[in-house]
Amino acid sequence: MSYQARFKVWRGDADGGGLADFEVTVNEGEVVLDVVHRLQATAAPDLAVRWNCKAGKCGSCSAEINGRPRLLCMTRMSVFDPAETVTITPLRAFPVLRDLVTDVSYNYAKAREVPSFVPPAELGPGQYRMKQEDVNRVQEFRKCIECFLCQNTCHVVRDHEENKQAFAGPRFLMRVAELDMHPLDAAAEAGVDRRRGAREEHGLGYCNITKCCTEVCPEHIKITDNALIPLKERVVDRSYDPLVWLGSKIRRR
Ligand code: SF4
Ligand code: F3S
Ligand code: FES
Repeated sequence: MSYQARFKVWRGDADGGGLADFEVTVNEGEVVLDVVHRLQATAAPDLAVRWNCKAGKCGSCSAEINGRPRLLCMTRMSVFDPAETVTITPLRAFPVLRDLVTDVSYNYAKAREVPSFVPPAELGPGQYRMKQEDVNRVQEFRKCIECFLCQNTCHVVRDHEENKQAFAGPRFLMRVAELDMHPLDAAAEAGVDRRRGAREEHGLGYCNITKCCTEVCPEHIKITDNALIPLKERVVDRSYDPLVWLGSKIRRR
């Protein structure tokens, strides 16, 4: 069954903008991205929106719908009352380029600051062995589609541009946790101290475990419980004694 829905869509650029009103047809089974595409095909051909897969896998179509950070392609129109006005705005924590498209380069900069996985020197390809529980732990974090909804939602940066320099955000603290928990990561032998990095370079201390990041993750990754809290515990446990740190790395091998 089709119906006419009312939408408000933010239109503008870095110099400013506002909400534009639209009335648009919605068909049964559609998601919000279908409606945005219909707007592009009818009333607003120059409406800018970023998307790729329409299957919740590329992480491109992040926006805020009625104030809640969500994927446009995974939000069914059936979750809204047909009489309700649906408001779509760009991600709030990142600078607007145009309409619903934001500049997410903060996230790429933070990704580059996390030292890569270091393969163990004594093992060659095909010789890596891990316990299934270690595989499972890392596997959860690898479900991340880099939609940056968690980065956009965390209060540390959402309305605090000034914190971006010092805070990597939940997605990249999770990456640090993943690597620190990885039994084959040999970064320590290469002189990389991931736990000190978490505290001193990636701003782990800014996180006060409000769990808002976890609530908006479309992959349902338990970012706070399985990555951030364990990382905090690991940082505190060692209380930064370099000898304990090196010893623990050697014992694990
Ligand atoms: Fe998106 Fe979840 Fe990855 Fe954050 S952790 S970027 S919310 S998929
Ligand atoms: Fe932010 Fe998530 Fe921590 S929302 S404060 S990173 S638990
Ligand atoms: Fe790829 Fe929505 S278009 S996640």
